[in-house]
Amino acid sequence: MIERFVGNLYEKYYAGDKARRGLFDALAAWRTWERVLYPGSFIHVTASFLFPSVIYVDNDRNAQRFFSQMDEVRAFVEKNKVYEESPQLTFYGTSYESSLDEPERSCDLLLSLYAGFISKPCKRYLKIGGILAVNNSHGDAGLASIDSDYLFISSVQRRGDQLRVVQDNLDAYFKPKKKTDVTEELLRRLGRGVAYTKTAPLYLFERVR
Ligand SMILES: C[S@@+](CC[C@H](N)C(=O)[O-])C[C@H]1O[C@@H](n2cnc3c(N)ncnc32)[C@H](O)[C@@H]1O
Repeated sequence: MIERFVGNLYEKYYAGDKARRGLFDALAAWRTWERVLYPGSFIHVTASFLFPSVIYVDNDRNAQRFFSQMDEVRAFVEKNKVYEESPQLTFYGTSYESSLDEPERSCDLLLSLYAGFISKPCKRYLKIGGILAVNNSHGDAGLASIDSDYLFISSVQRRGDQLRVVQDNLDAYFKPKKKTDVTEELLRRLGRGVAYTKTAPLYLFERVR
């Protein structure tokens, strides 16, 4: 019954293409990830199908209820995972702006998908050399692009029927369509990012300092 709750809630929000599995496949094909932090995750445990160790953070009540059934969530992940080892899942039902009981510079991948400005408050958990994988739905990719602690190194683009990490033409990204001085204040005020001439479903930044 409880297992049905976990599976049903996941299916409700992430059935089929809604899971955006291709993004995680592209990241998994590109590198091996030891410790992944997913703030504003909601119940998007698709990440755990590909990555053995994921820390989820969300202050939504449904997410809290979902992850309160951690044994069932783990069993659900076990059925869907593609790696050998046992999955490690941690959940914080708090704001990603609050302090997490995790060591600084301990994660090698930070995910920011449709959940506000994560790149700044959660940067401290990312190792130097770690990767921020971010979309621009709420402007967080734009914010990372003007943050000197991050270096834009790749994007995820469609190649044939798959998404892939590619390095082409990096200079063409983050050019606003309209002449605009992109600042943190502007991005926070807009809350949906500025329009750029060249876009990608996911942008990859290396934490360089
Ligand atoms: C649109 S959903 C996206 C969920 C998931 N990242 C995805 O791509 O399917 C945004 C999520 O971010 C969470 N969120 C927004 N601000 C947050 C904050 N400050 N701390 C934790 N979670 C937050 C919301 O509760 C919500 O579950």
